[in-house]
Amino acid sequence: MKKDLLSIKDLRREEVFSLFEDARELKTNLDAHRQDLKGKVLAMIFEKPSLRTRVTFETGIYQLGGIGIYLAPQDIQLGKREAVEDVARNLSRWVDGIMIRTFGQEIVEKMAREATVPVINALTDLYHPCQILADLFTLWERGHDLGNFVLAYVGDGNNIAHSLIWGAARTGLHLKIATPEGYEPRREILEEARAQGAKVELFHNPQEAVKGADAVYTDVWASMGQEAEREKRLKIFRPFQVNMDLFSRAKPEAYFMHCLPAHRGEEVTDEVIDHPRSIVLDQAENRLHIQKAIMRRLMG
Ligand code: CP
Ligand code: NVA
Repeated sequence: MKKDLLSIKDLRREEVFSLFEDARELKTNLDAHRQDLKGKVLAMIFEKPSLRTRVTFETGIYQLGGIGIYLAPQDIQLGKREAVEDVARNLSRWVDGIMIRTFGQEIVEKMAREATVPVINALTDLYHPCQILADLFTLWERGHDLGNFVLAYVGDGNNIAHSLIWGAARTGLHLKIATPEGYEPRREILEEARAQGAKVELFHNPQEAVKGADAVYTDVWASMGQEAEREKRLKIFRPFQVNMDLFSRAKPEAYFMHCLPAHRGEEVTDEVIDHPRSIVLDQAENRLHIQKAIMRRLMG
């Protein structure tokens, strides 16, 4: 049976930590794994822009001996030129895996149902599993015990927040989420993840959320697809900016984290994102290593 990665919820706790072990091995011994996916092809469907996701998947499959095919929004016009199901059936005849970045989670689920090859979610409006696996790997490789780690996420209850919630369920991470009222993560995700052990607290006061945290994480206030709400959101989210005043309320050794791209001067100030305790570039680098581990697991 082929396996997909549509959400961190799909992974068992042991699978998450075993991906971390694999990612560390792939990161340390690059040359030992040049043939691991020799001759394999990954179709990469993008319905939204990307820097990190495209470059890390394409570099990753190449380093493992395979090749990625980048499909831009105008190429296949998913659901318009051709139905999602038909794209899935066609691609399954040619390639060994499908990576997809799109809007609705249901599109990725439809793709996975119809495809006979593994499907990897590379961001939807609901989830961004590859990002959060890279982020948690970044903390784990630094020797942190995730079961004893407090991460404060400040900002929008979006795809990053939702994947962090499942990350908390699987790793024991203690998550404190501060959002403006009306921008909380989805209640049904919270309830389901909490029922599976996720330790998540919600706040409307960012100062309270970051107090004593081991890391402070933020993301853009208007995600891809929400451009029309941008002006309204800029006003509502202003008190949630991660600046030196807010960051200094976390532990003195706390990290700053961001999935990137960052809007400097909006959700984070230059001083914080460029701070010696900012680990945003390690997070970005680790997208490469964790996704190689994921591809090897699913397509190997
Ligand atoms: N973090 C992330 O997914 O970056 P891109 O949107 O540039 O791929
Ligand atoms: N929440 C952001 C994440 C980008 C990696 C977005 O969806 O645009």
